[in-house]
Formats: sequence, structure tokens, C-alpha cells
Amino acid sequence: MYRTKPFVIFIIGVSGVGKSTIGNLLSKKYSITYFDGDDFHSKENVNKMSKGQSLNDEDRYEWLLTLNQLAKEQIKIQNCVIACSALKEKYRDLLSKDIEINVKWVFLEGSFDQILNHLNCREDHYMPVSLLKSQFKILENPVNALKIDIGFTPEEIVETIKKEIFDKSEFGLIGLGVMGKGLSRNIASKVIALSVYNRHVEGLEEDVAVNFKNEFSELSNILPFDKIKAFVISLQTPRKIMLMVNAGKTVDAVIDNLIPHLSKNDTIIDGGNSHYKDTRRRIDYLKNKNINFIGAGISGGEAGALKGPSIMPSGNKGAYKLVKPFLESIAAKDKNNLPCCTYIGKEGSGHFIKMIHNGIEYVEMQLLAEVYFIFKTIGKNPDEIANILDGWKTKTNSYLLEITVDILRKKDKRGWILELILDKAGNKGTGNWATVATAELGVPSTMIASALFARYLSSFKEERIQLNEKFASFKTISKINVDNMIKVYQLARLVNHHQGFKILFEASRSYGWELNLSEIARIWTNGCIIRSSLMEELVNIFKLTDNMMLNKNIIDEIKELKPSINEMVSQCVIEEIPIPCLSEAVNFLNAYTKADSSANIIQAQRDYFGAHTYQQNNDPSGKYYHTNWKKITHD
Ligand code: 6PG
Repeated sequence: MYRTKPFVIFIIGVSGVGKSTIGNLLSKKYSITYFDGDDFHSKENVNKMSKGQSLNDEDRYEWLLTLNQLAKEQIKIQNCVIACSALKEKYRDLLSKDIEINVKWVFLEGSFDQILNHLNCREDHYMPVSLLKSQFKILENPVNALKIDIGFTPEEIVETIKKEIFDKSEFGLIGLGVMGKGLSRNIASKVIALSVYNRHVEGLEEDVAVNFKNEFSELSNILPFDKIKAFVISLQTPRKIMLMVNAGKTVDAVIDNLIPHLSKNDTIIDGGNSHYKDTRRRIDYLKNKNINFIGAGISGGEAGALKGPSIMPSGNKGAYKLVKPFLESIAAKDKNNLPCCTYIGKEGSGHFIKMIHNGIEYVEMQLLAEVYFIFKTIGKNPDEIANILDGWKTKTNSYLLEITVDILRKKDKRGWILELILDKAGNKGTGNWATVATAELGVPSTMIASALFARYLSSFKEERIQLNEKFASFKTISKINVDNMIKVYQLARLVNHHQGFKILFEASRSYGWELNLSEIARIWTNGCIIRSSLMEELVNIFKLTDNMMLNKNIIDEIKELKPSINEMVSQCVIEEIPIPCLSEAVNFLNAYTKADSSANIIQAQRDYFGAHTYQQNNDPSGKYYHTNWKKITHD
């Protein structure tokens, strides 16, 4: 009968709303075990209440934990319904602790006079009428509850619970592309009652949702739609709807289609690769309509979506609480079995960090490409390169290293697939955004820019062929020593990760996001494309410092690795092997680790032609000076 995992329904509201009546009736009609929360009060609490004294938070604490324990035990066996006032949010937090995903709240609401009337008709209750006022005073309106007016008859109320909770879905997903399908299957596998929607486009996208449901046995309980209104109506309120549609105008169009059918406190989650400024704009736009918007970066590609991605949600914290249990249950788990999903911060910070994740991803990919290219240039075939990279896994493993080994080994009857692939790299835009965003912030994301521009340069294939003919290639026996290649690669990865996290640190400071770098590293240890053994180490390093380059172990490691990359980059330059990211790692380190730079001449030039002024080494006040550079002085 139920499309979801075992659940506990808490019937909540002030004394006198009829919680027990509804709980009993629900229990009888649908064979769900009923518990009256009041039966679990301690003697002390009962005495206190009988004397007309109200319970304080301390009195309630143990009682709420007892009910939480009861709910936990019950859902192991069967569904249950518990009547309990649960007037404050923190009480509800205790009641649903660790079982948020299993809990449904039904809030019985009525006016003070309506409830007073109810109470006056009751004889067998120890709760004096005088406590009603204090209950109303502490009542915090539950946002995440089905609200039913006590003016309806108990039968009608129970019928509403059935219609709105048992028959409807807990979560909705829009957009059945590769990622949307993978996530839907992931959600359904967690026994979350799900509705899915895909638009109908004559001749192009017809019956996508129905066909998808019929394709996989685990989807037998999902509700498929191609009409947006019916899809929205099929969801429990407050609704939770995830968009897995193309970033950009499509997201705005889908939001505008949804709005007329949504109600106050519904939440839309954008799981696409949206630009963080769009996410901020959408949060504000929907806030005016009392609808929540969460921008969630999701990484992991097709396999991650299906088995558990890394999820980076941001927006209003209260809104995040509503969707947290769902996002956490579908996310990958880290080595301590914690979800690779955490509240990132306000505004579009989730999509910002996903964008930087992708920037780091671009560099990690480019570094492996450069390593491959050096090995190839000195005459190694893909299998030989694969064997070497395979041997690196014990020292410096990563998802991208693993897939590169697989790629290098893949053959069909024509030979290595890799050698058949045209060397023009594509991109979907996040590396571009990352480069622009960091330029705006004033942070040198030089490796991301190098990786991005390497892709752009590769796309000028025809010009490269033309110019190849015009410029003679370097032709002597290579002197490249690849024995230390792993060190070269490790060092460049350290610089890449430093730059990526430095961007996050500076963005956090500039935008007031309060990002937790260690926690971000943690949710990047599994599910996402840049998961690696290095990322595992960074979780602890960022607990100690915001700048990994100041960490003693990292400093020691860099000192040990640096000579290898210096030598490699020099030799590649001599032999004209393009290595934009490897060489940028060296150049960045050479500049970043030196107290002196050439910027004094830049300042002088700026002052010469534009009177932009400069500061002086010997003046700690920071005062700005100007020189009349052309005037001849005689002193
Ligand atoms: C991820 C990936 C993914 C990305 C694609 C395409 O974390 O799962 O980063 O979000 O969109 O890999 O990116 P490019 O086409 O720009 O390489």
C-alpha cells in the first residue's frame, strides 16, 4: 500500500486539538500502531502538569528523546503514529533525530477559542485549561508539516492524511537526461516515494517519463508525468522538487512554469551546473513568492548520479533543512560513512564551489594529458603508459588517474581507441566561468586558466596542422628523464589544489560566505570527479590552516618534489613539448614562494604614464607617492 520506506507520523499541535482522536482513528483505519506521547512522560512531568505548571525545555528533553527512541525502534518493525505536541522546532529536531527521512509531520491547527472549546468538553485529561495559553505562546509554526484545520471532522482529517501523505510522493524530479535518470534511480533505490516529470515535445520527447519508469524494475513505484500541474499535485507539501535541466534559460523557463502551481514553503533545488550569480538571482526572485530555492552543485557524472554523487547545496539554511534528509540519503558516503553533502553557505556559494571543483577537475585532467604526452613523445605506447600510471595508484591515487589508466588500455580491433580520438578538447563552460570569476576576485587561478586555454588551443586543429608544416619540429634524441615523472605530477597537483582552495578562501572572505574548507574537502573525497587520496589528506590539513602551502608537511613535500619538476619543465621547453599546466605550476611556485618580485617596475610604469602612484618599501604607513618621471632633477 505504501510507496515509501517505514515511516512515523507525528500528529502535533497544542493540547486540545484532537491529536489522540486522529492518531487512534488513523491507526484503526490503516493498521498503523498508535502511541500517545503523553503516556511516556516521567512521573515528575505528570505531577508538574497536574499542578498546572508548564514544562520547561529541560523537563521535555528526556521525554522527547524517549519518543525519538520509540520511533526509531518502531520503524524497524512497522509504521507508527505518535501524538505529541512538539511545539518548538528544537523539540521536533529531537523527535526526528537521525530518522528525519522517515518522519512525517501532521500539524492540527485551530484558533485559541476553537481549542479552548475542545478542552472544556474533555473530562479525563490532566492538562488544565490554563496551560493552553502558555502552549500558544511557545508554539513555533512547523514549516515542514501537513497542516489540517481542526474544523474538519476526524474522518475528514484522516482522509486528508491518507490523500496527502500515503498517496503522494515525497520528492519530485524534473528533467530525465542522463543525470536526471541516474539520480531518479538513486532516489528510488532509497525507497523515497518519487514523482518524475519530463516535458512533452512532439516527435522529440514523447512519454519520456512513462518509458523511463517501464525500463527499470526498481522504478515500479514512481509516478511519471509529462504535465507539470499533475506532477506538482502529486507531491506532498511542502514540496521538494529537484531540477536536472540544462543550465541557463531552461532553468528560468522551468521555474516560471512551476510557479503558478506551487505553494508557500515549497522548495526548488537546482542540481545542474548553473552559474552562481544566476542562483543568487533565482533565490531572490523566488523569495518574493515565498518559495525556497537551493542551488546544489552535483558532481560525479552518470555513475555518481546513480550510485551517489557529491552534493554542494547552498541558499537559505532553513530551506536546506527541508531537503537535507533527501540530499544526504542519495549522496556518496565518505570513509566515515558520512554523506558527501553539506550545507555550503548562503546565496550561490554551492554552485560557486562546484564551478571551482570543475576548475580543479580541468587541471587534474590536463596534468594527466601532459604526462601522457611526454611519455608518448619519448616513444611509449598507451599500454606502457597505463602500466606506469597504474603503479602510481599506491602513492597518489585519484578517480581521474584510474579512469585514465582504463582509457589508455582500451582497445578494439583497430587498436587503441585513444589513438583514434581527434585531439580537439570540448568544454561546457564551467572552466571558463571559473577563470572569469577568479579574475573578478583578483585571485591567480593560473592553472585553471592554463588548462582551459590548453583546451581552447587544441580546438584550433587546422591552424596547428598548417603551422606544423611551417615550423620545423625538434628532432634530436630526447634527454627527458621520466624516472621522476610521478614527483612532477604530484607537485603540480599540490599547486592545483592550493590554487583551487585559495580561490574558495578568498571568495568566502569577499562574499561573506563563511566556507568551511575542510568540510568542502571532505565532501569531495567521494562521489565527485576530483576525489583522490590527496583530497583525503586535505580534510585534516584544512582543519589546521586556510592556506595549505603553510602546512609543514606540504612544505616538506614540495621541497622534495620541486627539483624534479624544475628539471622536467626545463627539458620539455628545450624539446618544445607543450606542457602549459606543468610549467605554470613551476612558475606559480617560483613567484609565490619569493619575497621579491618584478612588480616594482610595473608600479613605476603605471605611475609614469598614468600617475597611478606607488607605495614605498621603507614607508610602513602605506602612503602613496607620485614621481614626475620626465622632469630632470639635479639632486
Ligand atoms: C562533474 C563534472 C560535470 C561536468 C562535465 C562536463 O563534476 O560531474 O564536472 O559536472 O559538467 O564533466 O564538463 P566539461 O564539458 O566542461 O569538461
